[in-house]
Order: sequence, then C-alpha cells, then structure tokens
Amino acid sequence: MEKLVSLCKRRGFLFQSSEIYGGLNGFWDYGPLGVELKRNIKNAWWQDMVTGHDELAIPAGAPTTYEMTGLDCTIIMHPQVWKCSGHFDLFCDMMVDCKETKKLYRFDQLRGRWVSAQGKKVRLQPKVISEGVQQIQGDEIERLFVTSLAEAEEEAGDLQRRALKAFNLRAKDAEVLEWHESVMTLDKLDSLECVFAPEANSVGTLNGPREFKLMFPTTIGALAGEEGRAFLRPETAQGIFVNFKNVLDSTRVKIPFGIAQIGKSFRNEITPRNFTFRSREFEQMEIEFFCHPEESRKWYEYWRDRRMQWYTDLGLAGERLRLREHDKDELSHYSVGTADIEYAFPFLSEGEYGELEGIAHRGDFDLRSHMEGKLVKNAKGCLEVELGEDGKPKYRGSGRDLQYRDEVTNDRFTPHVIEPSAGADRGALAFLCEAYTEDSAPDDKGQMQTRVVMKFHPRIAPIKAAVFPLVKKDGMPEVAQEIYRALKKRFPAFYDEKGAVGRRYRRQDEAGTPYCITVDGQSLTDNTVTIRDRDTLEQWRVKVDDVVEEVSDRVS
Ligand code: GAP
Repeated sequence: MEKLVSLCKRRGFLFQSSEIYGGLNGFWDYGPLGVELKRNIKNAWWQDMVTGHDELAIPAGAPTTYEMTGLDCTIIMHPQVWKCSGHFDLFCDMMVDCKETKKLYRFDQLRGRWVSAQGKKVRLQPKVISEGVQQIQGDEIERLFVTSLAEAEEEAGDLQRRALKAFNLRAKDAEVLEWHESVMTLDKLDSLECVFAPEANSVGTLNGPREFKLMFPTTIGALAGEEGRAFLRPETAQGIFVNFKNVLDSTRVKIPFGIAQIGKSFRNEITPRNFTFRSREFEQMEIEFFCHPEESRKWYEYWRDRRMQWYTDLGLAGERLRLREHDKDELSHYSVGTADIEYAFPFLSEGEYGELEGIAHRGDFDLRSHMEGKLVKNAKGCLEVELGEDGKPKYRGSGRDLQYRDEVTNDRFTPHVIEPSAGADRGALAFLCEAYTEDSAPDDKGQMQTRVVMKFHPRIAPIKAAVFPLVKKDGMPEVAQEIYRALKKRFPAFYDEKGAVGRRYRRQDEAGTPYCITVDGQSLTDNTVTIRDRDTLEQWRVKVDDVVEEVSDRVS
C-alpha cells in the first residue's frame, strides 16, 4: 500500500487536500492522472447504467425490460428532507474522546489488545468517585488494553511500542510483555477504564461512548439559528426520492424504471483513514430503481448480480472481489435484502474486505417517509409515522402523493425501491490497488529491470495512448505529432520526445497507458509505426493511417 500511495503522489493520481498548509484529514484532491481515472469510472458507470441501457431488450437476468434516466440535484436540500429520511436523528457513529489529547475515535473501529508485563503495575488516571469527589491518586492495574491507529501490517509493532511506553519499558524488554486474547475493537470491552488511548501518555483517559452526528451543518443566507440551518447531503439518494414525482410528470417513464445520480456527498467521519477509503468528502454513484412490490425481490437479485458483473468487467479480479449478502439481523429496519460488493484492499488484514457498493432492497420506506413523515417500526414490525411527545408526527412529510398509478391496470401503489449505491472514490481506489503491478521488462540495453506498471482496463486508463519519435530528428517528430493529433481527437493521448525511449515507456507504464506508438527509422521508409502493448510488452507494426482505428478498437 505504501508503494501505491507514493506512486499516486509522484505521478499525480492523488494529493492530500491543502497539502501546502499541512493537509486536511479526510479530504483528497485528484491530480492530472487521477481526475481522468475517476472521470472514466464515472463515465463508464453512466454509460453502462443510463445512456447505454437498451430499453427495448430484456437484459440477462432481468425480469422485464426497464427504463433508466438521470438527475443532478443540489448538495444542500430542504432540512426537512433529512428529518423525514431519518438522517437528522439517526445518522451518527458512537465515539469515544480522550480527556488528555482531546482526540475522537470510533467506538466500533479503534482496535487494541490486552497486555500485562509480569506483574508490573501501571497507575490509572484519578477517577471521579461521586459528584465533585475525585481520587487523589488513580488505582494501579497489571493488565491494560493498548490501542493503535496503525494500518494492518504495522499494527502488531505499534501495539508493542505502545505497551512498552505504558509499562515504562525499553525496546529490549519486549519479551516481558504478555499478550492476552486477540486484537479486538473497543466496543467488545465492558469498560474503558483500563484503555491506553492511541496518542495518550496516561492510561484510562477515554470518555464515552456517545453519539457523534455525521452530517455537516451549514447556514443558508443570513438567517440565524435553527431557521437558517441546513446540511451538506450525506448521500445523493434523497435528491432522487424527492424528485420522483417531477421525473414521472415530466417524462413518459413507466414502472419499472431507475433514476441515477452521480455527485458529491459529505460525512463528518470521526476517523477518516486508509487513504481515500473513508473520506469526509466523496462522490457517490447511486441508482434508485422503482418497481412493483411484487416484483421487487427479482429486481433486487438482478441489480445485485448486474453490479457485481460491472466491476468484474472493468478488471477487478475474482479472488479479491466478493458479493456478501447481509444476514437478517444486519438489515436496516425497512429492508428485506441487502448485499455488499466488497474488495480485499491491501491495507486490510488478511481475510478482511472493504465495501465498494451496497445493493439494498428498501421497500417503500423512502417514498412513504417523504409522503407521510419520519417512519419507525412498531411492535408488530410495521412502519408507522413516528410521533413526538405531543402525539403529533415528529417530522411531517411533504404531504405530496408519491404513489404510482398503472395506466393499464389502474392499480395504485407505492413503488418499492432497489438501491445500488456505489462510491466513485472507493471504486477508483480499488482499481488503483488492482492495477498496481511489479514485473520485469528489458531496458534500452536489453537488461531485465523491475518495472512498476498500472494495469488499468483500457476503458478507465487515464491516457489511452502515447506517441514517441525514436529520436528527435530525421522527420520522426513530425510524423509522431501528426499521429498524436489524430489520436487526441478521439481520446486522451500523450506526446513525448524527451530521453531514452525505454524511460519514456516506463513513465507510461506507471501512468497505466495501454498503448505506446513509436515512430522509428523504418517508419520513414514504409509508413508504419510500432504499437507496444503495456501488459504483454508485445510490439507489432501498423500502417500510420490505421493507428487511430487500431487503438480506438482496443480501448473502447
Ligand atoms: N444511499 C445509501 C448509502 O449512502 P452507504 O453504504 O452509506 O449507502 C454507499 O454509502 C457507498 O458510498 C459506499 O458503499 C461507499 O462506496 C461510499 N461511501 C460511503 N461513505 C464513504 C466515505 N466516508 N468515504 C468514501 N466513500 C464512502
């Protein structure tokens, strides 16, 4: 992972946001290559899900034909949207805070391990015994729970370093440490009393757990207080639900149909980490697919399999990609089925997977919430409007009729929703991880050298082709520039005449450029050039006039 992170910075895929001011945790900028990669991923998704969808044919695995359309909604929406959707009350993480360092940590994510040191004692922070009465000196303990923020491969070393610090031991005394049970997260502990927080100097400094709201608040205009308070959207989905009726009324779409949206979402994550995996600002690619309740299970299965296939087709390998159906007790209160598409990111421990996309069967929860008001499950397991202390709806819905009337059968119903919800940044990160390869290739002198090559699927590769004149003379640059200009009309191409040709190939390998075209001495006599394949290193000759078609066929 370290090598990938350094390549991303060195070659301009990803930079830390505001880096010259020390960076901003959880925010990332896409550099010149990264912006093309991410745009290609979003374009491939939009093309495959929306514009390229054939509404006249039944796709493999689908129950019937269906329609697809798109939206682009605002990031700031009416605050009532988030009250009715449940985000205002429920979109939070449990967190603990450190009295000493003032840092916050996710209760369910901070990992640590029980450790002792052959009877050596550690003094805890004095604790409050009763209101206003505090111990003069904290208790002494022999077993404590050391924690670490390190990534998987450095976790064991960091835990040992922290344990030595807690017991005031030196590195050479490491064998004194006795480890108990396996590494676990804080939420598995009965109390936080004996926890040595990741960045603290004393043991027992954690408070909590308590709720931490994840939506970023903002203010609209000059209105002070509650009236002007709004939120940056934490998901793009709600913009689709609140526009359901507008789309129905302004187009001729009929159920079943889907509305897609790509856009920024914001979550004030407590511990953004693992490169871009958990960011505070990220992009989502979401579809809300509206169907008849009786058909919804079949549509759920269709979308689950269709979305999995999409990642496979773009090159995520079988053994690192998996589809995981949620157990019944993992499902949201309104869902009858959810699956995650997960990827074995290299920063995770062996056997662990991170979510790329969730495909959820959401029933009629969302449309009903925006019609009736915030819903909760009652004792019988049915959804009903949540009432406030005054017996009135806690958050009123829009009151608008979001039901659907089938023109043929005259059947009126609230459509069920299947939601394939993907993260563009997580997708980009998975494609970057998958692409990173080290192999060997001959240099200019024919000696085999280790090379770093980003093996992107040609559809998402930032640059599709690079053109080189072998030398900067004899008319070669002129021929190469003509080819470059012809390629540029179709897709991103790169022209490079500087340095040894082997080094130029290496630079394109690192950028993930699938094809390099070289104009050499033979080109001047027979009007052919070589095309080199990034992955196989195979080279073949093609007529100059055929280069654009040859490369286009291969990258589309
Ligand atoms: N509308 C449903 C929804 O938003 P989610 O599982 O919270 O569901 C969907 O998010 C996808 O958005 C995730 O699978 C992930 O790819 C992406 N995502 C969520 N939180 C993210 C974060 N903090 N950083 C980067 N991507 C995130």
